Amino acid sequence: MNDLVWLNGSILPMSEARLGIEDRGFQFADGVYEVIRLYEGRPFTLREHLDRLHRSAEGISLTLPLDRQKLTSEIERLLARVNPGEGMIYLQLTRGVAPRNHVFPEQVKPTLLFYTRPLPKPAAPGQCAGAKLVSVNDDRWGRCWIKSIALLPNVLAKNQAVQAGADEAVFVTDGVVTECSASNLFMVSRGVVLTHPVGSKVLPGVTRAVLMDVAKDLGIQIREEQMRQEEARRAEEVFITSTTREVHWVRQWDGNVIGSGSCGPVALALHRGLRQRVLAEVSKAA
Ligand code: PDD
Repeated sequence: MNDLVWLNGSILPMSEARLGIEDRGFQFADGVYEVIRLYEGRPFTLREHLDRLHRSAEGISLTLPLDRQKLTSEIERLLARVNPGEGMIYLQLTRGVAPRNHVFPEQVKPTLLFYTRPLPKPAAPGQCAGAKLVSVNDDRWGRCWIKSIALLPNVLAKNQAVQAGADEAVFVTDGVVTECSASNLFMVSRGVVLTHPVGSKVLPGVTRAVLMDVAKDLGIQIREEQMRQEEARRAEEVFITSTTREVHWVRQWDGNVIGSGSCGPVALALHRGLRQRVLAEVSKAA
């Protein structure tokens, strides 16, 4: 049996897992989530993901039903039963099941679940095809630092991009570019790496944070500041980052070719640096 889910403390086949119709995640998108990468069966940056989960939960006045240590050991318990090697853990926390009412219920047990999914082994740095981006208007809420399951604006944006033959949608407000539908955005301008500060319109990506640290180690100048769309389109390099994509260089944005139209040296160096972090963490855990 390899399609198992951890649901509120029990590990059971996905086909037998049941949730109440009145789960507030289902009715109000009243919940938060995490996606954690597995390399050779080991979770990467699990602590950072659980830190963000706590901040997200706190951001919607929700308390996790398990402390960090217990949650880590329960994740290990699931991984001992079902482990795709290369893959991811999807974890979701909702406020739980209660009669439908906008007001928070007083007595409710949060719903916590997680399961694994396989992912293809990631391509070597610089070896994947360049991504194509499309700009979309940002109509998301102002608390994008919370990793909320209310992803409809992101879903619509992503589909707009895919229908236009692209891979990712970049959110733009008043000419300022922030992040993408499911990834953070970076550009290289006059040799300096720029990325929008996290907060109301940008998720504090775990990959983003690792990359900023890698950049410091490599002596690559990196600054968190606003990026204007017209500047980004003239950038020497653009790349996007996420747990599932790692570092993905951008070839085209709204039909314009970025830089030389190939993976640039900064994206390549940072991606290699990220891989070294992965190797170091995964081999330490083995
Ligand atoms: N998405 N910004 C948004 C809006 C995201 O949804 C994500 C990740 C990121 C990158 O964060 P991280 O490096 O921690 O994965 C930035 C995940 C992968 C998803 O929804 O599937």
